[in-house]
Amino acid sequence: MKMDGKVVLITGGAKGIGKKTAEKFLKEGAKVVIADFDAAAGAAALEEFGAGEDVKFIQVDVTTTQHVEAMVKFTKDAYGKVDVLINNAGITIDGFLTKMEDSFWEKVIAVNLTGVFKCTRAIAPLMIEQGSGVILNASSVVGLYGNVGQTNYSATKAGVIGLTKSWAKELGPKGIRVNAVAPGFIVTDMTAKVPQKVLDLMENKTPLRKLGRPEDIASAYLFLGSDDASFINGAVLSVDGGLVM
Ligand code: NAI
Repeated sequence: MKMDGKVVLITGGAKGIGKKTAEKFLKEGAKVVIADFDAAAGAAALEEFGAGEDVKFIQVDVTTTQHVEAMVKFTKDAYGKVDVLINNAGITIDGFLTKMEDSFWEKVIAVNLTGVFKCTRAIAPLMIEQGSGVILNASSVVGLYGNVGQTNYSATKAGVIGLTKSWAKELGPKGIRVNAVAPGFIVTDMTAKVPQKVLDLMENKTPLRKLGRPEDIASAYLFLGSDDASFINGAVLSVDGGLVM
């Protein structure tokens, strides 16, 4: 199996894209730690995966340094190493620029950007010591091309691309690859908040004439996290059915 013996840590892994990604890595023989804010969803995911030695859950708020450090310790204590970190946890609090409150801006920046920074900062020493590792970051087409009503979200997803490229340069010489995935519109709880007419518009604008599914993004993470991608570093892989080119 592609990920036999590998240890994969997925933030926001209890639902949506993160959960599907956990499932895919487990099927490929990995040991998986799901780190998520939502303890009930984490417990449900463990039950669904048949909680055993190969999958564990830890409740983590990625915006809190102590939680993030505890997450790294938990993973190291459980499995001895971390081969792949997937910085997937993310939120939206949308609003037009003139109506965007400070709290909307600050919360989204805290989870989607600062959370990615904190998790990677905490895991990097371990990967440097190992001399190997893969870090995968959740960007978005919105980070590449912008979106009405998503001032805060698009800033974080563009910021994640900056982090990805800086870390690809800084950590590459230590044997660590860093890449980002930029999904289009994927059917999850996050897009359930988007008005149906906007989703229909996006579907019609997509050359493949459909929205994405969590497994489409999970497949991209699996590829980038595996040795099949061993010479890919600093890339931003769009997975959007050709929505934006
Ligand atoms: P989702 O809302 O279904 O799942 C997000 C997960 O992150 C949830 O389990 C939630 O509990 C967790 N989470 C939220 N805040 C957290 C925190 N502070 N600490 C730890 N965990 C936290 O979202 P979805 O759609 O699966 O998105 C996953 C990632 O993919 C996000 O970063 C999102 O921005 C990105 N993305 C999603 C797209 C979509 O169309 N669904 C498109 C482009 C990017």
